[in-house]
Amino acid sequence: MKQIITKDNSITFHNEKFDETYHCLAGAVSEAKIKFVEPCNIKKLAESGSISILDICFGLGYNTAAAIDAALESNPDCKINVIGLEEDVKLFDLIKEIKAPFKSFRLIQKLDKFNSVIIDKNIQIKILLGDAKETIKKINQKFDAVFLDPFSPKKCPGLWTLDFLKSIKQVMKPGSILATYSCATHLREKLKKLEFQVKDGPIFGRKSASTIAIFK
Ligand SMILES: C[S@@+](CC[C@H](N)C(=O)[O-])C[C@H]1O[C@@H](n2cnc3c(N)ncnc32)[C@H](O)[C@@H]1O
Repeated sequence: MKQIITKDNSITFHNEKFDETYHCLAGAVSEAKIKFVEPCNIKKLAESGSISILDICFGLGYNTAAAIDAALESNPDCKINVIGLEEDVKLFDLIKEIKAPFKSFRLIQKLDKFNSVIIDKNIQIKILLGDAKETIKKINQKFDAVFLDPFSPKKCPGLWTLDFLKSIKQVMKPGSILATYSCATHLREKLKKLEFQVKDGPIFGRKSASTIAIFK
């Protein structure tokens, strides 16, 4: 896979099958923090002492790593539970080679196809390998925050459908927040149909705002 240095000097890759990059070129690490961690209020949630996160399309693990760093910065004793959904098992090898500026990235680098659960003190990260449309049905817990980070609706339409969004809502706690980079009208309409409160998220690396959906 072709490596790309993004504008904040962090690394991403170009996926040939989808012909898209894993992160925006304005900054891979900045995108994780600005479009996912901050809109989901991870620091604030961590103050309560425990936080559960569903990371849909785990990829290189940047969104999870940024969330763990933010949660521990806010509350070093916070219990953190992450479930990641990812279909590409080859990424585990790639992750081991990346230098990413997250304190918690060493944990993510311990993941592999034989060891898809990492437990370290108060932190648990578990990856459900396979198509997220199926693996989400195996989840029997509810989350405080959801990161929805598939490739674009054009390249990965199955992860932007009403049915899939419905499956996501079923594993969210009342009051929880979903963050995604897309601002697509069809996405926002589906979220509204499912009775999410839909708001503009931050603008980063493009002209339009990302999307925040609150489960009221
Ligand atoms: C934009 S990248 C995610 C980047 C990631 N969130 C990060 O922080 O590095 C999209 C990811 O979705 C994964 N993916 C694509 N289709 C999928 C599916 N049906 N189920 C689960 N994962 C899928 C790809 O393998 C890729 O890792």
